[in-house]
Amino acid sequence: MRAPDSDLPLRFERVRFEAGNRLILDIESLSITNGAPTAVVGPNGAGKTTLLRLGMGLFEPTVGRVTWGGREKVPPTRRAILFQRPVMLMRSAANNIDYALASVNAPSRDRRRKIAELLALVGLSGFEDRPARRLSGGEQQRLALARSLARDPEILFLDEPTASLDPAAAKSVEDVLRAVAERGVKILISTHDLGTARRLAGDVVLIHRGKILEHSVSEVFFKEPRTEEARRFQASDLLI
Ligand SMILES: Nc1ncnc2c1ncn2[C@@H]1O[C@H](COP(=O)(O)OP(=O)(O)O)[C@@H](O)[C@H]1O
Ligand SMILES: [Mg+2]
Repeated sequence: MRAPDSDLPLRFERVRFEAGNRLILDIESLSITNGAPTAVVGPNGAGKTTLLRLGMGLFEPTVGRVTWGGREKVPPTRRAILFQRPVMLMRSAANNIDYALASVNAPSRDRRRKIAELLALVGLSGFEDRPARRLSGGEQQRLALARSLARDPEILFLDEPTASLDPAAAKSVEDVLRAVAERGVKILISTHDLGTARRLAGDVVLIHRGKILEHSVSEVFFKEPRTEEARRFQASDLLI
């Protein structure tokens, strides 16, 4: 059971974000609700990472409001973010997760069981004693996912989690994400890979040059894109 003070919906209301005297993101309105994963797609430099960081609460908007369950400035105790190249501690896989469990004060008597559960969820059962930094890229990404989930987030932000992986490793990360979503965690994933978006997402947000061009349920986005940019992006015609 979720506590009544849910972080969802996550809303951006007339948000502008400026950095280095440039307008990086300009969002009139965006609402992220419970349910299947939301994919944020767009070319490099579109503003995807910035959008995720604002949603996590790592950045504050220059203008406008970001709200979680209708409230502003909610500390990120129920949110977690996973960056493209996660840094693992030079310890065992189990210790990497244990560190995250300790940081949220999980009772130590439960930790061994939780570590086993989390490793099973990401397909790394039996990897407890393996040095984290010796794992393959895909395995490290899944371990990083387990570490993010140790915080029991309600919303999980994933910034291009499959971008540096080969197709097989990317697929195993996608399988884990599907299982995580089925457990009720809201996933907000940025990707420039439309295949990932197509396979995972319930709705798709297309951003280009800091603006949302389209936000549609997946079937509509892929079958009847409403904007010329969405059609071009899907045809792999470069958006610049
Ligand atoms: N701190 C910053 N200062 C100046 N420009 C920035 C800063 N952070 C991001 N940008 C610029 O904002 C744009 C969007 O960046 P980003 O959100 O990382 O896009 P994406 O993740 O879609 O590739 C890019 O042009 C990037 O160079
Ligand atoms: Mg990015």
